[in-house]
Amino acid sequence: MTKDLFERIEEDKGPLGKWAKQAEGYYVFPKLEGPISNRMSFNGKKVVTWSINDYLGLANHPEVLKVDGEAAAEHGMAYPMGARMMSGHTKYHEQLEQECAAFVEKEAAYLVNFGYQGMVSAIDALVTKNDIIVYDMDTHACIIDGVRLHAGKRFVYKHNDMESFEKNIIRAQKMAEKTGGGILVISEGVFGMRGEQGRLKEIVALKKQYNFRLLVDDAHGFGTLGKEGKGTGVEQGVQDEIDVYFATFAKSMAGIGAFFAGSKDVIQFLQYNMRSQMFAKSLPMAMVKGALKRLDMLRTMPELKDKLWENTNALQSGLRNAGFDLGTTQTCITPVFLKGDIPESMAMVNDLRENHGIFCSIVVYPVIPKGLIILRLIPTATHNQDDINETIAAFSAIREKLENGTYKRIAASMV
Ligand SMILES: Cc1ncc(COP(=O)(O)O)c(C=O)c1O
Repeated sequence: MTKDLFERIEEDKGPLGKWAKQAEGYYVFPKLEGPISNRMSFNGKKVVTWSINDYLGLANHPEVLKVDGEAAAEHGMAYPMGARMMSGHTKYHEQLEQECAAFVEKEAAYLVNFGYQGMVSAIDALVTKNDIIVYDMDTHACIIDGVRLHAGKRFVYKHNDMESFEKNIIRAQKMAEKTGGGILVISEGVFGMRGEQGRLKEIVALKKQYNFRLLVDDAHGFGTLGKEGKGTGVEQGVQDEIDVYFATFAKSMAGIGAFFAGSKDVIQFLQYNMRSQMFAKSLPMAMVKGALKRLDMLRTMPELKDKLWENTNALQSGLRNAGFDLGTTQTCITPVFLKGDIPESMAMVNDLRENHGIFCSIVVYPVIPKGLIILRLIPTATHNQDDINETIAAFSAIREKLENGTYKRIAASMV
């Protein structure tokens, strides 16, 4: 007997969906209102916002708003229509690709509409069933999902663990000798949850010994690390050894879209083989002209990145001095590790938002091990010392309540 598909959906709403009733509108799908900045409105109250990846404060910059608005007024939101290959190509798309490539010190680049879809599709295009993928176990969903499409073997190594990496490269090499395929290694430049940099320098050092190509997702490194914000490869001095470099416009560039950069041949291969671009409409002009403006600001306004780092250093040193565990972050991403269960963490976040006016993301099981809570803060160039001081004071207050069982009691009384 077959089952009605929707009956199953009714029974099993998924790991997050099962919390929808309790969480919707507050912990998930919250509505942050007002101009994107250090302070926005949530539930009618002003909160210090630490959950937006507008690292350089470009989202609401007057020069950016002007260019976005003018481009939308001139071209509408449709032009150009169709896929790049067919009718969706313009000189501005080409210009943006050339400028992105030059910025990240590669020969060529190819735009994609969304980083997530682009990554899934690029992985799909780069490997055949005879090739082997070796990837870090903490990589973003777009990499995991790209790997899911792969019809051949894959090996996952422990997060940033070079011993595990080498063990898996050796396994991959043996397998590739049998299949006659090649090896694609995938890491992130910056791991978005805990803020560690990928160990790119150590990975590329092994290229002499093993034959593999390296794809790096630098969503969080682009704009925040390296000279002028050129990213993690430049920061670690190994940009030349990254065979395919990826960054999204959705974070430091405060826009939409993403790009891959590499050698002319590899980029041309992606242009002719990436299904997400061959079978979908190209980026609208307002996004393209807006991205050109933002890229120009990255290059010419180093004060934005300097301010981001000034805020990052003040926030991280302030939290550390107040005794908080920030793990091993080496970037702007600031995870604060606490101990507690899910109901406690919900009561704590409620207190933070309602009584202390602090809005940050919360990460719990199953994303991280049971009993751990991460409050994740993203500093930006728009934050100031008052935001930082208020946040450290609020965090000290909630830690005390977490430790003395106040949130456990609140959570129990709500059941
Ligand atoms: C590491 C990483 N890769 C890719 C993406 C996806 O980028 P986009 O928002 O452009 O789809 C994100 C965004 O969350 C990310 O953090």
